[in-house]
Amino acid sequence: MDQKIKILAIESSCDETAASVVENGRTILSNEIYTQIALHTEYGGVVPEIASRKHIEKINQVIDSALSKAECTLDDIDAIAVTYGPGLVGALLVGVSAAKAIAFAKNKPLVGVHHIEGHISANYIENLDLEPPFVCLVVSGGHSHLVVVKDYGEYEILGRTRDDAAGEAFDKVARAIGLGYPGGPKIDKVSKEGNPDAIKFPRAKVDESEYDFSFSGLKSAVLNYINQCEMKGEKIVVEDVAASFQKAVVDVLVDHSIAAVNKYGLRKFAIAGGVASNSSLREAFEDRCKKEGIEFFHPSPVYCTDNAAMIGVAGYYEYIKGVRSGYDLNAVPQLKLGER
Ligand code: KG4
Ligand code: ZN
Repeated sequence: MDQKIKILAIESSCDETAASVVENGRTILSNEIYTQIALHTEYGGVVPEIASRKHIEKINQVIDSALSKAECTLDDIDAIAVTYGPGLVGALLVGVSAAKAIAFAKNKPLVGVHHIEGHISANYIENLDLEPPFVCLVVSGGHSHLVVVKDYGEYEILGRTRDDAAGEAFDKVARAIGLGYPGGPKIDKVSKEGNPDAIKFPRAKVDESEYDFSFSGLKSAVLNYINQCEMKGEKIVVEDVAASFQKAVVDVLVDHSIAAVNKYGLRKFAIAGGVASNSSLREAFEDRCKKEGIEFFHPSPVYCTDNAAMIGVAGYYEYIKGVRSGYDLNAVPQLKLGER
């Protein structure tokens, strides 16, 4: 392609203020992320009002720095892509307002992007040969979805969580065993010192749907185990609890995903979202996909957790299809995948 299309992308759906410049949907010219994690750690989770206030403070600096690292100005940008849902309403509104202001002032097209579509699209960044169709497991702090990516921007949802998202389960269990927020990376780290077979936690199945997930039973099983130990006056081995919990999550995610890939006759499988950076999950999928002859794709950890590069990639594919948002674009906290 001779023509170079540059998208300025903005992401502010949760606790990362992020901006990126993406060229032709696959080349990341800059990827700026201001993470608020340290700010929320003392509360044990994201405080929505604090997140919104920090986004409004940081957004212009982050956008400025994304443009300068990409060595371009707003005049070089072809369109503005922004996450408009799902996410925290106050947080989303900051990014959406910034994107609308730039689009209006510079008379540039505006493209609203679905956050989960962004996570899935992160796989296109480092896997230049990856094209739909493929099956993708999206596991983040707010979502656990198993989807068939039929084409760019076209999804069939096969399964989703019935209760807690995978990342949410990691965060809650981490809090219960005293590791603090954010739980995923901490459980990932201490699990390396633990025995994943030390405690037999349940592998939850959802009766009517072979692709749905349920993690609240597993979370309760971990809490019960901790309570029982306390009642018996026994000290828990944090590393073993973490490793055994992590294995229970990984087993279910791998089994459901591989069943879906095989059922749909696709030989390409990708993972996305914050939990996709989990080392044990990645190893388990590497192994299993190799055995089953399935090509396995995953983004680097920096593109798994929230970032704007993934929004620029998804925004590019929407943009070239002709998708445009109006100046009435609003935040949609409960936006469903595949809806506009
Ligand atoms: O995708 P993300 O950055 O934000 C949402 O869209 O939700 O995902 C954040 C989630 C958190 O729950 C965090 O604990 C989890 O991803 N996470 C991990 C790891 N890194 C982040 N979970 C397991 N292992 C990790 N290494
Ligand atoms: Zn996310």
